[in-house]
Amino acid sequence: MKKISQGNVYDRVHVAANPMYPAYVVTGSSKNLMIDCGINLFGPLYTKSLTEILGTPDRLDYLFITHSHYDHLGSAPYLKRRIPSIKIGGAPYINDLLQKESVIARMNGLIEHQRVSFGDIAGDEDVRLTPIRLDIELREGDEFDLGGLTCRVMEVPGHTRDCLAYYFPETRALFPGEAAGVPQGTGGGAVQVEFLSSFEDYLRSIRRMIDLEPRFIAIGHGFAFTDEDAMDFLERSYGATFEYRKILEEYLDAAGGNVESAISEIVRREYDEKGTIFQERNAYIMNLTAQVRHIASLR
Ligand SMILES: [Fe+2]
Repeated sequence: MKKISQGNVYDRVHVAANPMYPAYVVTGSSKNLMIDCGINLFGPLYTKSLTEILGTPDRLDYLFITHSHYDHLGSAPYLKRRIPSIKIGGAPYINDLLQKESVIARMNGLIEHQRVSFGDIAGDEDVRLTPIRLDIELREGDEFDLGGLTCRVMEVPGHTRDCLAYYFPETRALFPGEAAGVPQGTGGGAVQVEFLSSFEDYLRSIRRMIDLEPRFIAIGHGFAFTDEDAMDFLERSYGATFEYRKILEEYLDAAGGNVESAISEIVRREYDEKGTIFQERNAYIMNLTAQVRHIASLR
């Protein structure tokens, strides 16, 4: 079944805040874990949801991040200020990144255009991103016992080089962030292909996730899939990655190999004319640019 990411989406999995930037809360019998924490403006919404799910935000033990994008870790500094006891985990590379003032300033800049839509949520609270240090550097094969549920860490590069997925063998629940693509549009029927750092790594990572045969997959934006639809999403995402590369190659061919011309034409035709991509336009162009440049480099 395809579900919008809100409420109780699976056995011991609740969604904090909003389907657009879902923070998945996994509740074990002894520990509780949040996976990702959206944009910084949503910080107060996450703590409100944590109160509803856990009784009090202080019962959250871990916050694990899937990758180093501002819309997946944006509320981490706020949550650490609000709940000092939480242990924040992520790839070692994120640890370096989040301590750089320049990176934090850039992330705060990226969020400014979203203030129009979501500024009210934060109210007077201080939700600014500030440099933080990870409490735990996570690596392939690390395991965390939540009480009846084990969180296993997988390195799944391709979207970014620091992507981690979290897998729970007892319930066969998988949380890949954006490492396996994202359902596209409000209906979520098509798959938005998300390789940014490496086409080959991205495919290899999706193949590894398919091999797990998950029964639940919670995507970094919008939707979660249960039962056979979990595998179906991964298989479709794998196939869509080849199709998408073909489309980018065709645009590059039509532009005589000129990367910038190909990007302009893709934005005009695929984003502006079709109007079916529900991603903020600047973010779309930024990701598309990385993808077209990467594919051009492979030719
Ligand atoms: Fe991302």
